[in-house]
Amino acid sequence: MSEVKKWEESVMMRAARGLPVSRVPVWLMRQAGRYMPEYREVRQKTTFLELCKNPPLAAEVMLTAVDKLKVDAAIIFSDLLPILEPMGFPLEFSVSDGPVIHSPLRTAEDLTRVCELRDVSPLDYVLETVRKTREGLDESLPVIGFAGAPFTLAGYAVEGGTSRDFRQTKLLMYSQPDVWHEFLRRIAVSVANYLIAQADAGAQILQIFDSWVGCLSCGDYRQYVLPHSKTIIDLVRESCPNTPIIHFGTGNPMLLPMLREAGGNVIGADWRIAIDDAWAMIGHDRAIQGNLDPIVLLSDLKTIERQTHAILQKTAHRAGYIFNLGHGILPQTPVEHVAALVEIVKAFPMEQRIA
Ligand code: CP3
Repeated sequence: MSEVKKWEESVMMRAARGLPVSRVPVWLMRQAGRYMPEYREVRQKTTFLELCKNPPLAAEVMLTAVDKLKVDAAIIFSDLLPILEPMGFPLEFSVSDGPVIHSPLRTAEDLTRVCELRDVSPLDYVLETVRKTREGLDESLPVIGFAGAPFTLAGYAVEGGTSRDFRQTKLLMYSQPDVWHEFLRRIAVSVANYLIAQADAGAQILQIFDSWVGCLSCGDYRQYVLPHSKTIIDLVRESCPNTPIIHFGTGNPMLLPMLREAGGNVIGADWRIAIDDAWAMIGHDRAIQGNLDPIVLLSDLKTIERQTHAILQKTAHRAGYIFNLGHGILPQTPVEHVAALVEIVKAFPMEQRIA
């Protein structure tokens, strides 16, 4: 029998498995980022992509954030998009426009240069970041590995960058469905291998980000996306049966039951739906994560506390709730507000829970 690791009994791991906890776990998407002076200082000396490719420094950035905020998990410091490079899409992060993906995919011919990653060694630097983060983190806390979901990654690869309406992406999906499905299949296999490698390198939990999927209708999600997201989760499940998976999407709460159908032990919800309604839609046999609006953190401590308590009062009475924002922390957020939020969640008296 191998010894039970300390992180197994953490509130984060227990909630992700749907088990009762002594208090609600909390971590925050983009918990290491531009809102933090320490991060901005690191970024003065290196570009964002260089930072992602420097495992000791990437690990240090996240460990510093975890130490400062006292959150219940460390997500590795990386990004959704580096996986696109070895798949055939050169990548750049420009200061003004965010990510730029050169030679975006638009045609059947473009598909011939898209690699399906069976061997994820071009992303060894991410796996090294997982190892370094695990080494440096207190044993009582889990490390979260992550990757983009097929729709969100395809969105960047087809648009060539950030998009408001994903026009080219949907156009490809509607007018060349065979190209679309083959592209998403290659992404799904690549992402599954990448996530499995992260778990092997020492990640205890895996999160799949479908950040932009909410621009789709339910019918289109089911037809064009769900089978590919499901492929990832099924493949990861097969290789890592005990690693909880968080499946996160934003934008269209009506998709939540289908995110559940595609899979995941924990379903992530944004702020557009009340968290108890979201949980009822997903089903209480799954865990849930979310859903404070990140803009609340720009307000004042009283408002932050009121909004946070409102969420906790709707969720903390059930096993399987993980506190988080509905999307990432905004760069303009005051650091003291973020630290105060973590304290508010941790101090929430469990006797206030609805019986
Ligand atoms: O959560 C964390 O602190 C861990 C690190 C992390 C980053 N990106 C760091 C980052 C994670 C988990 C991500 C995921 C990611 N990347 C998502 C999913 C989450 C979400 O917000 O929906 C997405 C869509 C991306 C793609 C991406 N990365 C964009 C569009 C941009 C540019 C716009 C922006 O917000 O800056 C990035 C850059 C990025 N990723 C930064 C950081 C800290 C800022 C880069 C900088 O320092 O200039």
